[in-house]
Amino acid sequence: MKLNNIEDFIREIQMASLEKAMDRAAFVEQFRIKYLGKKGLISELFEEFKTVPNEQKKEMGQALNRLKTAAQAKIEEFKSSVEKLEQQSQTSDLTLPTDYSAVGSRHVLSVVMNEIIDIFSRIGFTVADGPEIEDDYHVFTALNFALDHPARDMQDTFFVEKEPSVNKPTDVLLRTHTSGVQVRVMEQQKPPIRVIMPGRVFRNEAISARAHCIFHQVEGLYVDKKVTFADLKQTLLYFAKEMFGEQTQIRLRPSYFPFTEPSAEMDISCNICGGKGCNICKGTGWLEILGCGMVDPNVLETSGIDSKEYSGFAFGMGVERMAMLKYQIRDLRLYFENDLRFLRQFDTIV
Ligand code: PHE
Repeated sequence: MKLNNIEDFIREIQMASLEKAMDRAAFVEQFRIKYLGKKGLISELFEEFKTVPNEQKKEMGQALNRLKTAAQAKIEEFKSSVEKLEQQSQTSDLTLPTDYSAVGSRHVLSVVMNEIIDIFSRIGFTVADGPEIEDDYHVFTALNFALDHPARDMQDTFFVEKEPSVNKPTDVLLRTHTSGVQVRVMEQQKPPIRVIMPGRVFRNEAISARAHCIFHQVEGLYVDKKVTFADLKQTLLYFAKEMFGEQTQIRLRPSYFPFTEPSAEMDISCNICGGKGCNICKGTGWLEILGCGMVDPNVLETSGIDSKEYSGFAFGMGVERMAMLKYQIRDLRLYFENDLRFLRQFDTIV
C-alpha cells in the first residue's frame, strides 16, 4: 500500500533538484503534475486514504498533509529559482549593448610614421629594420665619417662601451641616426635597392621644446643603375605633396653630410601661411623638413656595391618634426609625457 511510503515520498520531493533539467520550466510543470495534478500521486493517495481504518486516519492524514505541503513548497522553490536564472541569463545576453569602455588610440608619432611608410610604399619602397644599439662601424665609419673627423661631433652620441682614445669601429653606442640601416641593407642586398627605414634614434641633447634625447627618423635609400639627383628630387616632391597637400612646393639647399655627395636640405612651402611668412616659418615662407643627397661612392664601395655601375640617393627626416608641422605641435616634450589631454586630440586619426 502506497500510503505506507509517505515518508519516502516526502524525502524524494525534498531531494528533487532542478540542476540537471534541460528545460527547467518544463521540469517544474512535470513535477507539479506528477505530485499535485488531478491524477497525480497526492490525489491518488487521498483517494486511498478513504479506505484507511479509522484508528490510523489521524496519523496518516497528518502525514499526507505534510506530503502535500512539501510538494507545494518544493514547487514554489523551483519557480523562484527558475525566475532568478531567467533574470541572470537576461543580464548576460550577448546581444545586449555593453558598457562602453574607452580603448586606446595610436600615438600621433606612430600615425605619422605609418603615413610616411604608406606614402613611400605606394612607389615601391619596402621597410627595413636595424638595431638601436649599434656599433661605431655602421653608424659612422661605413658612412664615411673618418675616425677623427669632426663630423662625428655633429651628433652627440650616447656610448654604451667606448674604447679610450678616439672612436673605434668596435665602440658600442645608441644610434644617432637611422643611416646605419642603409649600410646593413647594402651589405645584405644587391641593387636594385628601394627601402625605407623607420626607427628610434638617440642623441645626447638637453631636453627642451625644440630638442629631445630620443626621437624618430625615417630614412630612405634607393640604389640602382643610373639613379640621378632628378630622381631624388621627384621622389621628394611626390612625398611632400602626398604628406602636406597638392599645393606644396619644395626647394633644395646645398648642405653637407659625410655619406652623401652632393648633399641637400629640403624645405617645403609653409603649409600654415601658404608661403606668405608667419611665425611658424619665421617669416621665410619655408619649413626645413629633411636632409638628403646622392649616396657617396665611398659608402657604396665600403658596403660592396660597385660605384661605377650603380648610384643611389638617400634621405632622412625626423618624425617629430613632421608631426609638429602637420598638426602644429609646438613642444617636442609633449610626445613623451603621456598626457591624455594631448594624446586624445589624435583619437580620430587612424
Ligand atoms: N642621417 C641624417 C641626419 O640624421 C639625415 C640624412 C639621411 C641625410 C640620409 C642624408 C641622407 O641628420
